[in-house]
Amino acid sequence: MIMHKQDLQTKIFLDSGDIAETKKAVELLGFLDGQTTNPSLIAKSPGAQERLARGEKFSAPEVYDYYRKVVSALSALLPDGSISVEVYADSATTPDAMYAQGREMNAWIPNAHIKLPITTAGLTVAEKFVREGMRVNMTLCFSQAQAAAVYAATKGARPGQVFVSPFIGRLDDRGENGVDLIKNILQMYAAGDGHVQALAASLRNFEHLQTVLALHCNIATLPFKVIAEWAEQGIQPSASNFQPQLSSLTPIAYQEFDLQTNWRDFNIQHELTERGIEKFAADWNNLIE
Ligand code: E4P
Repeated sequence: MIMHKQDLQTKIFLDSGDIAETKKAVELLGFLDGQTTNPSLIAKSPGAQERLARGEKFSAPEVYDYYRKVVSALSALLPDGSISVEVYADSATTPDAMYAQGREMNAWIPNAHIKLPITTAGLTVAEKFVREGMRVNMTLCFSQAQAAAVYAATKGARPGQVFVSPFIGRLDDRGENGVDLIKNILQMYAAGDGHVQALAASLRNFEHLQTVLALHCNIATLPFKVIAEWAEQGIQPSASNFQPQLSSLTPIAYQEFDLQTNWRDFNIQHELTERGIEKFAADWNNLIE
């Protein structure tokens, strides 16, 4: 064990569809507060890869059954944690179809957060789920306006019921400083009632981890390799004075938004959200015959 969980102000999740990694991460850290999955991670998971390597695919019901088995195993390993389970969505998926999938997935395990994309359809479903007491993780967040819309669509939620997942690495990939988005969302939410927790996602390296811990982001989901590096470094990167190296990435400026605005009035369009949806759908569909 490399540190005490109580020394951290950020909850630590694993970002993976591989049960073996969950077991190893718990061994390395001594704890895990939860796990996030997505269609691409499920497609990459050993069970799915072995099947593809045999030249076989899944039928549509089989692929959901496979996903259910993976998250059931994760839930058994982390019964007190949160397990994020993502609905299938493409540009044509209706709110009704997302709603039906989300309800079904939520029944798979007692500790699910249902992942929905930050689109009009996803937010429509999130609003409903929150009213029904379900937990949601609003994914593919690339702008502060999207995070403001998540806040506005889920007002009245209890603490821990709603996560928003800003994707750091994918913004970095196109030259924008992804951690600025986390910073801006935390600053904006500080003026709110705390019903949405920021979950730093798409983390790629140890410096990302150090930065989000120093920002006291509510949750960070880490790929296994970052957990392994953390364990190897054997240090406690929770110091709030951590300063990331000067970045060559373009800063993302803070924007003023009124969190009391109707969520439908925010401009939630983002190219990376659209591309992300397409990629998740393609990876999922590739599993199906
Ligand atoms: C987790 O919730 C996200 O789906 C994941 O962190 C995305 O990571 P990637 O940008 O490395 O695919």
